[in-house]
Amino acid sequence: MPPNIHPLIVHFPIALLLTSVALSWAGLIWQGKSLDRAAWYTLLLGLAGALFSVISGFLAAAGVPADSPAMATLTTHRLLGIAVLVIFGLQALCAWRSKGVYSRNKRILHTAIQIVGVALVVAVGLYGGELVYIFGLGVASALP
Ligand code: HEM
Repeated sequence: MPPNIHPLIVHFPIALLLTSVALSWAGLIWQGKSLDRAAWYTLLLGLAGALFSVISGFLAAAGVPADSPAMATLTTHRLLGIAVLVIFGLQALCAWRSKGVYSRNKRILHTAIQIVGVALVVAVGLYGGELVYIFGLGVASALP
């Protein structure tokens, strides 16, 4: 069995994607300070991290027995992880197509998608933490 690298990777997309949204919102307030560019590159790095998290997550999940009590939480976590990849992928596609210039309505839609994205990132992290700290997935048994 190869080593489980999921816990090594997951903190990157969580930090990068949340930072990207924060930079993008800061760019609405302080315009002309390259915050939008910073948001764009952070988004790309976060997306790469999310892709590797999903791949490594599936590899980590392959070792979990089907009758594990963690299965329901794992299923929710998996769906949230995939949703994070899809929603931020969509956001990158929209930003790339519009070159970062939005009409008022598109800006509102973009911001709404960002809010959903932030909620999904927080939720995937919470469920991931539950898998480890409540169900003990991916950890050796604690010493008595
Ligand atoms: C954006 C995608 C994802 C993120 C950000 C993410 C995040 C996390 C986090 C924060 C943890 C807890 C790690 C720790 O505290 O050390 C975790 C654990 C876990 N995640 Fe994910 N996850 C993602 C996608 C997935 C997917 C698609 C699966 C596949 C089913 C998955 C399976 C697991 C498993 C099995 C664990 C338990 C610990 C382990 O065996 O590594 N994750 N995840």
